[in-house]
Amino acid sequence: MTSLADPLTLPHGPAWPNRFSLAPLTNTQSHPDGTLSDDEHDWLVARGRGGFGLTMTCATYVAPAGRAWGGQLGIASDEHLPGLTRLAESLRATGTRSSVQLHHGGRRSDATLNGRPNQCPWDDPDKGAVAMTTAEVEQSVEDFVSAAVRAERAGFDGAQVHGAHGYLVGQFLDGRHNRRDDGWGGSFEHRTRFLLEVLRGIRERTSDDFQLALRLTPEGSGITLDEGRETARQVLASGLVDALDMSLWDVRMAPRTPGEDGLLIDRFTDLPRHGALLGVAGGVVSTEDAAWCLERGADVVTVGTGAILHHDFAARAIADPAFVVRPRPVPRAVLADEEAVGPAFLDYLARGWDDLIA
Ligand SMILES: Cc1cc2nc3c(=O)[nH]c(=O)nc-3n(C[C@H](O)[C@H](O)[C@H](O)COP(=O)(O)O)c2cc1C
Repeated sequence: MTSLADPLTLPHGPAWPNRFSLAPLTNTQSHPDGTLSDDEHDWLVARGRGGFGLTMTCATYVAPAGRAWGGQLGIASDEHLPGLTRLAESLRATGTRSSVQLHHGGRRSDATLNGRPNQCPWDDPDKGAVAMTTAEVEQSVEDFVSAAVRAERAGFDGAQVHGAHGYLVGQFLDGRHNRRDDGWGGSFEHRTRFLLEVLRGIRERTSDDFQLALRLTPEGSGITLDEGRETARQVLASGLVDALDMSLWDVRMAPRTPGEDGLLIDRFTDLPRHGALLGVAGGVVSTEDAAWCLERGADVVTVGTGAILHHDFAARAIADPAFVVRPRPVPRAVLADEEAVGPAFLDYLARGWDDLIA
């Protein structure tokens, strides 16, 4: 039987020590220029020490125009390299594998931070976003690729392209809005081109040891379930990625598309993987939840909230079949003192996730 403690072999790079991955978690703890702070370093290194097989950074901006939050980590210039290098070294020392989530906010960037209108595949006056020129689209592909090259130079084991949650990559996939007629929109083939060119470019310009992953939304934000599934199928068949993480919000949820029965997870676990790993995320708060994901056919269990509540969620779940996270809401001092959650992250959580913090 598959166990949560089993190591995992990937097509490229080193094996992961077990099946737990830290979810990418925006924590707004970076310096204003996107360089790493001690609080962000300590938060992630504690998760490495806490037994996660893979430790993933927050959504990290690949270009200044894609910054979506104050305090977001950057990988857009070589000025970000010293902090990232220090982080990669510290993570390696804990025994975890490491990855940077590569992100561009597109129309959901923060124009007030960036001092320019947001970029988007289409004109979006409501969001004050302006359609990218063809040259800007090509530059943006290059920004993702350069960022991945930088991640490898910093010493990370890999990078994950953030194709989920309706940010720039997801905006290109959006069948409701992306009607570009320059080869980067319109048909399904043209809407998936941005994603595939980013993945191809990264594969070409990083070494055979570098682990490339992708995160996708299964449906919603202009992506039908059929198209979400087809994108995942094509990416897995392309041999470009080592891992695909499906961001389900709740691993036990049903499709939102009317008339679709069963569980959303099953629409992705049944796709041929061609050696890549399939991860799932959403609502895993106990060993039982995590084991259920493996029984259902996932290779990797991605944990977000549970890892905020316990830096050592992975180690605890591997050691104890009855482990369940602590009751919420949790006093600030507990998360600060025991779980290495810094003040800026605590404030961010208190603003957006009021059930988490007392
Ligand atoms: C505070 C917070 C920050 C998040 N930041 C990101 C992010 O930077 N990138 C991303 O892909 N998902 C992000 N997510 C989504 C999580 O990665 C995860 O998919 C989601 O929270 C569901 O998993 P969970 O129930 O284990 O938390 C965030 C979620 C939370 C709660």
